[in-house]
Amino acid sequence: MKTLVIITHPNMEGSVVNRRWMEELKKYPEDFEIHQLYKAYPDEKINVLAEQRLMENFEKVVFQFPVYWYSSPPLLKKWFDEVLIYGWAFGSKSGYRLENKKISIAVSLGSGKDEYTLEGHYGHTIDDLLVPFKLTFNYVKADYRPFFAAYGIDLHTSNNRIEESIQNYLDFLKSF
Ligand SMILES: Cc1cc2nc3c(=O)[nH]c(=O)nc-3n(C[C@H](O)[C@H](O)[C@H](O)COP(=O)(O)O)c2cc1C
Repeated sequence: MKTLVIITHPNMEGSVVNRRWMEELKKYPEDFEIHQLYKAYPDEKINVLAEQRLMENFEKVVFQFPVYWYSSPPLLKKWFDEVLIYGWAFGSKSGYRLENKKISIAVSLGSGKDEYTLEGHYGHTIDDLLVPFKLTFNYVKADYRPFFAAYGIDLHTSNNRIEESIQNYLDFLKSF
């Protein structure tokens, strides 16, 4: 069953890891449908109906993005606000169109895994950061699955580590 991967990256040209993940997924068009929000909407005017139709066509959806200020880039928040509306995503008989769809998140982070622990520098885990997403997907009755994260990614990250993250991401998607 094909997976829809919604990628939200405001600077794909400058990306170290999200671009590589995307290029890898594009090699398997029978398995993954790639939808880049910033590419589709350079003016950030989201076509709500088109997004809803797209979501309806897939049973598995992954939201892929780099963590910016402990959250997602802003166009994804706008997407949630505008696409997940009453009567479609929740709140009426014909609502809950995402009910039971498998939904997950794949993120990259600049900071290391040891910093995202209760005892670490931030005193919070990635689970903590992703609580708003979990609550959102629970609210619309989707089947929210465990997330994928690649930590400590910056311009100096070695090609080996990027390659490793690609393999880990593919393994994650296979078991999703
Ligand atoms: C505006 C901005 C905010 C960022 N905020 C965070 C953050 O809160 N936590 C973190 O670990 N990394 C943060 N980073 C680092 C990015 O998450 C990291 O560069 C990105 O995940 C790497 O993926 P990419 O190579 O595909 O861009 C931030 C980067 C930018 C540009």
